[in-house]
Amino acid sequence: MDETQKFITENKQRFLDELIELLKIPSVSADPAFNQDVLNTADKVAEYLKAAGADNVEVCETSGYPVVYGEKLIDASLPTVLVYGHYDVQPADPLELWESGPFEPVIKKTEIHPEGAIFARGSADDKGQFFMHVKAFEAMNKSGQLPCNIKFMIEGEEEVGSSSLGEFVRNNKEKLKNDIILISDTEIISKEQPSISVGLRGLSYVEVEVKGADLDMHSGVYGGAVPNPLNVLSRMIAKLHDDDGRITIPGFYDDVEELSEQDRADMAKIPFSLDNYKKSIGISDIQGEKGYSTIERASIRPTLDVNGMWGGYIGKGAKTVIASHAFAKISMRLVPGQDPEKITKLFVDYFPTLAPSSVVVKVIPHHGGQAYVLPTSDKGFQAAKKAMTETFGKEALPARGGGSIPIVALFEKELGSKSVLMGFGLNSDVIHSPNEHFGLFNFYKGIETIPYFFKYYVEG
Ligand code: BES
Ligand code: MN
Ligand code: MN
Repeated sequence: MDETQKFITENKQRFLDELIELLKIPSVSADPAFNQDVLNTADKVAEYLKAAGADNVEVCETSGYPVVYGEKLIDASLPTVLVYGHYDVQPADPLELWESGPFEPVIKKTEIHPEGAIFARGSADDKGQFFMHVKAFEAMNKSGQLPCNIKFMIEGEEEVGSSSLGEFVRNNKEKLKNDIILISDTEIISKEQPSISVGLRGLSYVEVEVKGADLDMHSGVYGGAVPNPLNVLSRMIAKLHDDDGRITIPGFYDDVEELSEQDRADMAKIPFSLDNYKKSIGISDIQGEKGYSTIERASIRPTLDVNGMWGGYIGKGAKTVIASHAFAKISMRLVPGQDPEKITKLFVDYFPTLAPSSVVVKVIPHHGGQAYVLPTSDKGFQAAKKAMTETFGKEALPARGGGSIPIVALFEKELGSKSVLMGFGLNSDVIHSPNEHFGLFNFYKGIETIPYFFKYYVEG
């Protein structure tokens, strides 16, 4: 272990320089304009895995973007850890809100990161995080201290719903066989308070369209006498929540697993300052489902949110017009018990009933995924807890996360393995937003901690 940590200390600057190279490639999976960049990123990841000492490194074709695979199998009688991550990133827009180019990584100091943070799209989600595993592996491998077998599966479509990964996993069960999956694509509570995500929410994502007349019309000539799809859509969306912040779709809560009083009491112990929370995002008050705390609303309760809404005139100045169409993109975050397909169907059946007969409503389902929970009794959780507790010098807590990594539930179904979500990001990294960044403290703490996970997992 000492040799591994020594190797890390001696190579810190190089690790950072290599990450910077990776962050320069705009691997935006959602936008076809970046197709070649996404493919180039896969090649770069493969190159890094080889340089770290992985064998049988492959850029595996799928029906979408490739999965990068690599392995080091030292002894069949030892456990195998499968590391999962994603090399694709979210679109960088709105570009004008970035203080430096999203694909021109720079190190800047912030209040939370006086030692510096690396600013770039993908720095925290997830290039900076999966790269910690490549470097921790390199350190263990080159210092002769890799304690078990390791496999890497780094995909390029996580941010667009992992559409090809399910098939890849089903077709490669033997190759991907493992004892535990290790993922760094989530957060810790703070730099002082380590935590392990023991839950992820599921997702159902739909797009809706409301059509009125066949053409856009003068809002003076026709206004008041004809359906206005934007007015109608707003009313329909408003009806999806009641005054207590509960979702009104019939049957929506039927399968929700409620937490025990003990679990809720444990959650209430997580350090949380409402004032800091509000200040950090610039809101004067919070809102949400009645009867639940902010942490609960953002992790163990299902939600429904409009992610985008458009139609009519959105250019400069004023144009008087009644649009023929209105659109919205809506996400529902799901919790254990809820089935994404069932929830999508409930939405598809219910939403059109909220419309007047003057319009036509279409609902187009997008991707979805099941929620995930890891019991704290799991050997993988225990190893992660020991590892983080050791390197942070403070006991790591279990915490349910609000985000989704839909493929994690599928890993359990297809490979029969649990996933440990040992992420090192912070809420304040603003993933998916302008000025995404990843603290150098977090990056190096991750590289330092991962070898301890391997050690304790193999010993445990
Ligand atoms: N890394 C995130 C998920 C995440 C973030 C989990 C923070 C917990 C805390 C992942 O890359 C992501 O953004 N997932 C998407 C889902 C996907 C289907 C687009 C999400 O949660 O919106
Ligand atoms: Mn991610
Ligand atoms: Mn993401």
